[in-house]
Amino acid sequence: MSLVYAGTCCHSPAITSRGEMADPIVRAQLLAAFERQRQAIEDAEADAIIMVSSEHFANFFMDNMPTFSIGMADEYEGPIEDPNWLKIPRTTIPANPDLSLRIIKDVIQTVDVCFSQEWKFDHGMAVPLHFLTPNYETAIIPVNINCQALPISPLQRCWELGKALRKAIDAAPERIALIGTGGTSHWPCTPDSGKINNEWDRELIDHLINKRKDALLAYCDEKVYQDAGPGAFEMRTSVCIAAASEEQSGEVWFCEPIPIYATTCCITTLFQL
Ligand SMILES: [Fe+2]
Repeated sequence: MSLVYAGTCCHSPAITSRGEMADPIVRAQLLAAFERQRQAIEDAEADAIIMVSSEHFANFFMDNMPTFSIGMADEYEGPIEDPNWLKIPRTTIPANPDLSLRIIKDVIQTVDVCFSQEWKFDHGMAVPLHFLTPNYETAIIPVNINCQALPISPLQRCWELGKALRKAIDAAPERIALIGTGGTSHWPCTPDSGKINNEWDRELIDHLINKRKDALLAYCDEKVYQDAGPGAFEMRTSVCIAAASEEQSGEVWFCEPIPIYATTCCITTLFQL
């Protein structure tokens, strides 16, 4: 069929690991936005979700770091973190290796992607899936963008990945949803962890929902690091989704700084049928 829904969401592990420590009103609004996104994907009758995330050295490491990778496994497992810490039970996540293969064969025509037949999801996928597919009944195709190890994927290449994914999605008979995770300001694993630059986050989200390609691709990595921390390099996942859904303006469904989650939590819709 084609793309039936596209959006972005946050993936901070604190949303589940220390969820109850946030302001209860703000947390309730965040969970309501996750539920709205879950319902939108269900209403779109998506056969599969392509989830673009930035994993955190759980599967890919410095011995061989792919710029882009797409999953092609028979099934996935997650979370790779201690389930008692993340407060998400470890489970098997359904896949669609045939659809993966077709997506990869199409994308690889223009973008050099790696592919993986083994993949254990970390919180970058496990937290969004916990809220968006709580019964794990929808096939997931994971896509990873290296946002962690320098040199990270250039923004222009992430835009091109989004375009290539969209072309592949529209060539498939299945109804496919596309979700990007992570990408607002945060300083994980640094003395500044917990710091948030909400002004930077709101400007990024405004560029994303208005699909301002030039503004999105003009972000300079050194300035992003300075203004929004190393965690904000994950903006690449959102840029990829914006490229894949460029023809429509999007909507912000939730965007609030939540200090105990160490970031601004955002949920956007970037494409709907
Ligand atoms: Fe992350």
